[in-house]
Amino acid sequence: MLDDPRPFYARARAEEPVFWSDALAMWVVTRYEDVQAVARDAARFSSINSISPVSVMPPPPLLEVLMQGFPVTPSLVDSDPPVHTRSRSLVTKALSLRRIATFEPILRELAERLIDRFVDQGQVEFVGAFAVPLPGNFIVDLLGLPRDHLEQVDAWISHAAAIFAGHGTLEELVEHARHFVTFQHYLADAVRDRRQNPRDDALSDIVTGADALDPPLGMAEMINMLVQTLFAGYETTAGMISAAAVELARDPELFAALRDDPGRIPAVIEESLRSASPIHAMYRTAKEDVELGGVTIRAGERLQLAFISANHDEERFEEPLRFDPGRTTPHLAFGQGPHFCIGAPLARLEGRIALEVITQRLPGLRLVPGQRLAFFPSATARRLAAVELAWDPPTTSASA
Ligand code: HEM
Repeated sequence: MLDDPRPFYARARAEEPVFWSDALAMWVVTRYEDVQAVARDAARFSSINSISPVSVMPPPPLLEVLMQGFPVTPSLVDSDPPVHTRSRSLVTKALSLRRIATFEPILRELAERLIDRFVDQGQVEFVGAFAVPLPGNFIVDLLGLPRDHLEQVDAWISHAAAIFAGHGTLEELVEHARHFVTFQHYLADAVRDRRQNPRDDALSDIVTGADALDPPLGMAEMINMLVQTLFAGYETTAGMISAAAVELARDPELFAALRDDPGRIPAVIEESLRSASPIHAMYRTAKEDVELGGVTIRAGERLQLAFISANHDEERFEEPLRFDPGRTTPHLAFGQGPHFCIGAPLARLEGRIALEVITQRLPGLRLVPGQRLAFFPSATARRLAAVELAWDPPTTSASA
């Protein structure tokens, strides 16, 4: 499933499109039409606890550490109205197209700087060297956190990811929790600072907007919203950029076409989003008994919305395993309905700039032979753990 869940989902779509999984203890929804219908229907399907397939009380030693921070309460992607409506309007405003557009040169400079670091080598582990740091650095810039805190924020986000995924021994989880709590307090300090000294950054917009609400947003809700936004903007975009780079590395003709005509890049980004589906799945809970795909889902039962399966539904996408940037059917990689990804324009911009810079700076891009592409272990996000890419370094291409 981790290497390639698509054959399994193809069978499910054909044989039992909404099926009960004992392993997940929930229904799995696999067809485009059904995934879309559930995602759009917030009246009958709750998003509380939508991020994780597990919902267990942390064991006491872990709870003890987490209690020194802010409670992880529903705040945005894992909330329903009215909490959701309030948080969504704040983040939407903070990530407005106006603000994002002004960041294009900064993003391009970041991408160029990352490539400068390794271009002469002719080979690099691309996920760690480019696909993760590009969106990571950028979201820190966008929120207005100091650049020299980058490495620290990056490390905190990894600890947060480990806590959400629940991976590791209890000892490891307690250690992750300690860092996560420090991260929460760091964000709380940044919020207090923006209250005193608001400026033109996304965090100030969020804080000012949150304080103007009636009642104002509490600190815990604000912290959870910020963690989610930082987190949402990181792994996902890294998954999209790595997947797109691998497609280019596999297809020299496509690479050359994009280098000569960057106007074709957005279509390749859309197809990478469809085929890679960096958010593999999200979760919902039925608020009432519902008929779906020939089964009855009872109130209180949970569902997995398999976005990657919907994006490979042969009823919507001919030859779904083929990478085809000419497709016109919209994919569901950013979800659908009231929780549709707020960061979609930003992710598309990051993808476009990444491919523009890669196609100009890494000629002859190719996969280093003999590697097995493995994915980061997560039931929600889907991104390559690592990929070795090679190209013709500048001296070679200059003498060629
Ligand atoms: C390729 C990159 C991305 C992918 C594939 C992606 C995917 C998704 C999906 C599938 C959802 C819907 C979840 C659901 O229905 O339960 C979502 C929501 C969200 N995304 Fe993204 N995302 C990406 C990038 C970003 C970025 C860059 C940001 C912001 C910096 C962001 C912020 C959010 C937020 C705040 C939500 C919650 C919206 C709500 O609940 O109303 N995402 N994303």
